[in-house]
Amino acid sequence: QTPKETPHWRPTYHFTAPQNWINDPNGMVYYQGEYHLFYQHNPFENKWGHMSWGHAVSKDLVKWEHLPVAIPEDSVWIFSGSAVVDKNNTSGFQTGSEPCMVALYTADYHDGKKEAQYLAYSNDRGRTWTKYAGNPVIDLHMTDFRDPHVIWHEPSQQWVMSVVFPKEFKVIFFTSKNLKNWTRVGEFGNQGELRKIWECPALVEMPVEGSPNKTKWVLMVSSNGTYDKFEGMQYFVGDFDGTNFKNDNSPETKLYVDYGKDFYAAIPYTDAPNNQKVFLGWMSSWHYIEAIKTSPWKGQMSAPRNIFLRQTSEGLRLFQDPVATLKPKKDYLVFEKKNFEFSKEKQLDGMTLFSQNAYMIEIEFEKKSASNFGLRIAQLKDKIDNKKILHQTIVGYDTQHSELYIDRTNSGVIPNNDFASVEKTNVNLKNNILKLKILVDKTSVEVFANDGEKVISDLIFPVEGSNMFSLFTSEKKVKVLSLKISDLSK
Ligand code: FRU
Repeated sequence: QTPKETPHWRPTYHFTAPQNWINDPNGMVYYQGEYHLFYQHNPFENKWGHMSWGHAVSKDLVKWEHLPVAIPEDSVWIFSGSAVVDKNNTSGFQTGSEPCMVALYTADYHDGKKEAQYLAYSNDRGRTWTKYAGNPVIDLHMTDFRDPHVIWHEPSQQWVMSVVFPKEFKVIFFTSKNLKNWTRVGEFGNQGELRKIWECPALVEMPVEGSPNKTKWVLMVSSNGTYDKFEGMQYFVGDFDGTNFKNDNSPETKLYVDYGKDFYAAIPYTDAPNNQKVFLGWMSSWHYIEAIKTSPWKGQMSAPRNIFLRQTSEGLRLFQDPVATLKPKKDYLVFEKKNFEFSKEKQLDGMTLFSQNAYMIEIEFEKKSASNFGLRIAQLKDKIDNKKILHQTIVGYDTQHSELYIDRTNSGVIPNNDFASVEKTNVNLKNNILKLKILVDKTSVEVFANDGEKVISDLIFPVEGSNMFSLFTSEKKVKVLSLKISDLSK
C-alpha cells in the first residue's frame, strides 16, 4: 500500500531530500563558493537502510540544489563522517590544478560485526567520488566505532580526527599527515551527559566574542539530550593541544546545545567564509521518526545557524542565531507593530500569510503583570465527534518558573505518545524583557531566546488549514515592545 503523500508538510526553507529517508548531515564543508551538504540517506525507501551519502549544494545555506547520491552503499553501508579540502595535497589524490576533497566516513558492515573508517576523494568539486583502494584507513576490529570528524590542526601541521566509541562514552583522537595513515593519540570521555551512547563528535576551534586574539575549543557530541531517553546534543568548552582535550568545566557539568527534542548530529562547516562557524542538525528523533508519516520523504534538517562562544556569568557558552541569509529581505516583512499592551487573547489583523506557515517572528515582550504569555501558532478551531478542539502549538513563557517552552501536545497529528510533550528551559529575563526569534516552517518550530542564549527546536505536524496566529496572556497584562513578522514562504 502506497502511503498518502503529504505535500502540506513539505518544509519551505528547511532541507529535505526530494524523496526518501534522511538522517545526519555529513561532510559539512565549504569549497569554491558552495556549501556542501551530504547526508545519511536511503536512496530507495522512505525508511532507514541502504545507507549512502546523499548530496546537495547551496550558495547561501537556504536554497539547495539537489545532486545525485555522492557515495553509494556497496558491500558496506556508508555511515556518518566529514569532508575536508586537501589544500596542500597531503593525500596525493589531487589530479588537476585544484585541491581535491577528501571524505572520511564510517563503513558499517551491516551484518553487525564491524565499523571501520574509510576514505573517498573527489577531484570535481564533490560531484563524483572514488573510494580509496586502501580502505579501511582505520580498523580497530570493533563493532561500535564511528562518525569521524576531521580538521586541520595548524600548530602541529597535521590532520586531527575525532571519532567515537559510542558505548564507552568516549571521543578518540587520531592524527595524520596524509589523511590515509592515522595514529591514535588521545581520548576524552565519561564526562557530562552519560545516559545515552555518544555519536557524531565535532571538535572546533572557535573565536571568543569580544576577545579578538582568543580562541577556545568546543567539543560537541550527540547523545542524550535534556530529556531522559531522548537524543540531543551536548558540548564541552576547553583546550585542545593536538592530542588531548581538556574540559574547562567540572566533569559533572552538562551543557546542552538545544532544549527541544528534534536537533541532532549537527556538525559545524569547515572553511566557511570569514571564519564563520555555522551548523545545522538533523531535525528529528530516533524516538519517534518511525511513526512520522511524511511522504514521499522522511527527515529534515534544522535551519542553518551561526554559532558563537560568548562569556556569561557561568562561563563561556554556545550561542546560536539563524544565518544572515535567512534574515528576511525588506519586502519579506509583512507585519510590524510596536508598543502595544494586551490582557487577553489577541488576534492580529491581516494575517493571511500564515496560510503558508513559513515565517520568522521577531518579538520583544515586556512581562508587566502577566504570569504566562506568548504566542499560539498553526492554530485551527476544529470539531471532532461534536467536540470542540483547538489545534495549536504554543510558544510561551512561564514567569513563575522563569521557563521558556514549546507546547506541542495539541499541535495536530501526534505521531506517537512520546511526541506529545512540552519542551522547556530556563531563561532569565533582563529588565523584564523576553526577546524571541521564532522560525516556523510547515512542520517545525525553532525558538531562539535572548539573542540565541537558549534554543528549543521541535517538529510539529499541523492538520491542514491550521494557519491562525495569535498572542496570549493567561491573565493580566503584557506589553509587546516590538513585533516583526517576515514571510519566508517565497
Ligand atoms: C546518528 C547515527 C550515527 C551513524 C548514522 C547511521 O544518528 O546513528 O552514529 O553513523 O546515524 O545512519
